[in-house]
Amino acid sequence: MTRFVLLCLLALISTAAAKGKGFGPGEQDYGYADVRDGAHMFWWLFHTTANVTNSSERPLMMWLQGGPGASSCGYGNFEILGPLDLNLEPRESTWVNFSQYFNVLFVDNPVGSGYSYVDRLSSLTTDNKQIARDLVSLMKSFYEKLPQFKTTPFYVYGQSYGGKMAIEFARMLYDEVAQGNIQSNISGVAMGNSWISPVDSTLSWGPLLYEMSLVDEGGLEAINRQANYTKQVFDQGQFAQSTSEWARTQNVVFQKTDGVDFYNVINKVERGFLRSGRTIMEKAFDVQTITKHYSSRADSLDTLMNGPVKEALGIPSNVRWGSQSNSVFNYLNVDFMKPVTSVVESLLNETNINVHVYNGNVDLICSTPGQMVWINKLKSEATTIFQTALRRTIWVNNTMEGYEKHGGKFALFWINVAGHSAPIENTAATRHILKSMTGF
Ligand SMILES: *[C@@H]1O[C@H](CO)[C@@H](O)[C@H](O)[C@H]1NC(C)=O
Ligand SMILES: *[C@@H]1O[C@H](CO)[C@@H](O)[C@H](O)[C@H]1NC(C)=O
Ligand SMILES: *[C@@H]1O[C@H](CO)[C@@H](O)[C@H](O)[C@H]1NC(C)=O
Ligand SMILES: *[C@@H]1O[C@H](CO)[C@@H](O)[C@H](O)[C@H]1NC(C)=O
Ligand SMILES: *[C@@H]1O[C@H](CO)[C@@H](O)[C@H](O)[C@H]1NC(C)=O
Ligand SMILES: *[C@@H]1O[C@H](CO)[C@@H](O)[C@H](O)[C@H]1NC(C)=O
Repeated sequence: MTRFVLLCLLALISTAAAKGKGFGPGEQDYGYADVRDGAHMFWWLFHTTANVTNSSERPLMMWLQGGPGASSCGYGNFEILGPLDLNLEPRESTWVNFSQYFNVLFVDNPVGSGYSYVDRLSSLTTDNKQIARDLVSLMKSFYEKLPQFKTTPFYVYGQSYGGKMAIEFARMLYDEVAQGNIQSNISGVAMGNSWISPVDSTLSWGPLLYEMSLVDEGGLEAINRQANYTKQVFDQGQFAQSTSEWARTQNVVFQKTDGVDFYNVINKVERGFLRSGRTIMEKAFDVQTITKHYSSRADSLDTLMNGPVKEALGIPSNVRWGSQSNSVFNYLNVDFMKPVTSVVESLLNETNINVHVYNGNVDLICSTPGQMVWINKLKSEATTIFQTALRRTIWVNNTMEGYEKHGGKFALFWINVAGHSAPIENTAATRHILKSMTGF
């Protein structure tokens, strides 16, 4: 994808919100919001197909892809929950026309991801707070254009690094609403296989791979040693270095497993799916941004997004989808390993919004054991209730789809037979968790 493309500094071009037919079925709105000087963020709303007089009568769901640098409008839309799949066939489990019928807002975030772009690379984000500020700015522009959604319950769903960004954004939006700077009915935030406490995730890899029989004792030892070093460097406050050590840990995992699928440890992978000649950091970027890890899929998404979709949405011709994505990742290298667990805690302590975690149980990169470590350390009234609450099975029509546990506004959903992108890998459990969040 991006690596084949020379980064081009984009000239100032028109960023007025476009209104056309869109791409694919159903009513759509989309456009650019100038979130800062020289920073242009693209959003794409699919109105629900529910039989209501106005789509704003159904919840508004924002989807944030991870990376950082992956495109919600690309991956999230065509590979996970949009109305069409990568082959442009209708997706039965789309959130737009699910049993619950939601409005889905895809945002290419942070700026530089997908169709979003910056005029100068120095305008890319370097920390999570800036990302959150840009998203608040985006929402101001969104509500100006579609004011009927101001009172519509609004839920933010983030996957992987998207969850880390979702948490900070939800917190900031809540505060901005409280201060009267914006009107929004922010009602919940969800972290799907998210990068919330990166050191805990990294430390979970060795033991999980060993228990799944993907490495022997020597492999376990080597992975643990490098993961420990990542933590050590992080604890010393060398954050950029810690990101490099994390990437090295990933590389040790690749060597010792001969290329496990980081997104689903029970998948079979193709030999040599990581292109040769890539540096350790480039490989780390590939893993973070190429869903499914299969480069052929990544290439077809690139072709789609830089071809017919780009044309249908009227994206300026000098904007190339994904061309700044690698830089987005690199600009965040100091922030990458920092946790947002205290922001999760503050959401529980100081706001009334729902905070949900859902995790596919065969993911490696954001594994469930890694999530348990930070979840069990949370200090709040809700998580105190959570700790002693009864864990219940999620049965859907006689099939065991996972488990759930609730403590006030906090909930955790363990999703069975799902990897990193649980919403596409277990749609039955996903229906259940969406209903639990929204009531629809
Ligand atoms: C929904 O309501 C808003 C505000 O009243 C209006 O601008 C918009 O056209 C309505 N949409 C539909 C599909 O009726
Ligand atoms: C929505 O789903 C229903 C039931 O599966 C289907 O009949 C209908 O064609 C779908 N509509 C759209 C716009 O995808
Ligand atoms: C948020 O949505 C709920 C459910 O529709 C509604 O009862 C409430 O009044 C809304 N709140 C705001 C501030 O718009
Ligand atoms: C990693 O750190 C843990 C906890 O400090 C320790 O028990 C373990 O022996 C270390 N493993 C390696 C391989 O260094
Ligand atoms: C949240 O509240 C708990 C007490 O219930 C407290 O121990 C913790 O420090 C608080 N965390 C934050 C971030 O406010
Ligand atoms: C459960 O079974 C019923 C009856 O066969 C069916 O209508 C419904 O769609 C099924 N639900 C799910 C989530 O598969």
